[in-house]
Amino acid sequence: MQGGYQMNILAISGSLRSNSSNNAVINAAVTYFPPGVNVTIYDGLGRLPHFNDISDPSPEVIDLRNKIRQADGVLICSPEYAFGVPGSLKNALDWTVSSGEFVNKPLALVTAATGGQNAHAALLLIFTALSANLTPDTTLLISFIRTKMNTAGEVIDPTTLDNIHKVVAAFIGTIENTKKNE
Ligand SMILES: Cc1cc2nc3c(=O)[nH]c(=O)nc-3n(C[C@H](O)[C@H](O)[C@H](O)COP(=O)(O)O)c2cc1C
Repeated sequence: MQGGYQMNILAISGSLRSNSSNNAVINAAVTYFPPGVNVTIYDGLGRLPHFNDISDPSPEVIDLRNKIRQADGVLICSPEYAFGVPGSLKNALDWTVSSGEFVNKPLALVTAATGGQNAHAALLLIFTALSANLTPDTTLLISFIRTKMNTAGEVIDPTTLDNIHKVVAAFIGTIENTKKNE
């Protein structure tokens, strides 16, 4: 790893489904991180309480906030449900508004759905509100995701894999630039 530091990435899927296509996108993305990059896949989305404006949040909320804070960058892969951002992901993001974990945080955002334009646009607005560090190069909309996967649940479409690879490369570049300026 350049710069001699350990890079830690937190990956969050906006889907709780066991055969999630967004989990498959994360699995594909993981293969493009350089050796030595540590990717942690967050598995607590379904255990978070519903957002409430309270001063003593539960251990699950503290754990989410700590994991985002400690990550050098966050990769989010989300589907679109009912023309919007899945409620479980939106709930997790709402827990970070006042505590500010996403402020200046390097972010890669992939929306993988049948269409996905609405959720992707909404997520871009949300992460602008949260002041995350994302650029057009670190965002990707994958429409018709199911047609880009095999029956084993892997992303196999070459163009899609190439686009995921490019997002990961730009994301790593953002993190390295951020580290240089620290
Ligand atoms: C409850 C539900 C609602 C959906 N609504 C939309 C939608 O509004 N727009 C869209 O593009 N896809 C929609 N889809 C299709 C999903 O985006 C698609 O199946 C995607 O692969 C799901 O991601 P996942 O496998 O990671 O859960 C919906 C799927 C489900 C299960």
